[in-house]
Amino acid sequence: MSKMQGKVALVSGGAEGIGAAVARLIVAEGGSVMLGDVQLDKAQALAAELGERAAATHLDVRDLTQWEAAVAVTQARFGKLTVLCNIAGISEPGTITDGTLDVWQRTIDINLHGPFYGMRTAIPAMVASGEKCAIVNIGSMIALRPASFVAAYSASKTGLRGLTQSAALDCAEKGLPIRVNMVHPGAIRTPMYERYQFSGADTPENIEANFAATHPMNRIGEPDEVARAVVFLASDDASFTTGCDLTVDGGGSIRS
Ligand SMILES: NC(=O)c1ccc[n+]([C@@H]2O[C@H](COP(=O)([O-])OP(=O)(O)OC[C@H]3O[C@@H](n4cnc5c(N)ncnc54)[C@H](O)[C@@H]3O)[C@@H](O)[C@H]2O)c1
Repeated sequence: MSKMQGKVALVSGGAEGIGAAVARLIVAEGGSVMLGDVQLDKAQALAAELGERAAATHLDVRDLTQWEAAVAVTQARFGKLTVLCNIAGISEPGTITDGTLDVWQRTIDINLHGPFYGMRTAIPAMVASGEKCAIVNIGSMIALRPASFVAAYSASKTGLRGLTQSAALDCAEKGLPIRVNMVHPGAIRTPMYERYQFSGADTPENIEANFAATHPMNRIGEPDEVARAVVFLASDDASFTTGCDLTVDGGGSIRS
């Protein structure tokens, strides 16, 4: 269990859900992790549980100056930054005509501007580390197969896919030792999913069955299944992989 030995990661959205699973696995694989989240109490509690190689800082990904502070605090605590996992994200319903402008703005701010600010801030710090570095952005199967009723979310995740590929090309063509990749989850059992499952829109059992049915493997995924894909791309195991789309969606993005 030493895939992440010597790596120092900043994980946005690390307080719970997929981000927390990624943080746990990075530490289990020998790396160090700074959890950046708006839920500082939860991030601090997880960091305390993970021990010396974990710490937490307040980070609202919508704010470039908070990214600068989070990168600086990571370098101060662990000596460098070599991995960025852009995991913080929100999903709120709405079509182009009935979704509110607030939903549009908030979704684009968190899901697209957030990773943009994160990469913009992290890349110079990664270059300064002088080591092999990696960025992993979380998309969604919706980035590969946009869906109805989630216009802002579809736009944010397809936009992030373009940004990821641009960043991968920029880094590779400039000869920077930074790979940039994307993981696309299907429906994953996290607080985000459970907020919808228990929203009262239908019975939790029907919601689960309907989500499962959109995945050919006919089930919901677990956070650790996504974390393993993220850690693979963050580690040197993926040394010749950049700009890729790695799906963790039970076949959801290729269903007919
Ligand atoms: N759960 C799913 O079914 C699913 C499917 C596909 C993609 N995703 C994506 O995976 C990522 C994680 O989702 P999740 O299910 O773990 O969500 P979650 O809601 O369970 O956890 C999200 C975390 O991000 C944090 N966060 C929210 N806004 C933030 C902000 N402005 N700044 C910093 N942190 C912020 C939250 O506090 C929370 O800790 C998201 O990008 C989401 O779009 C999730």
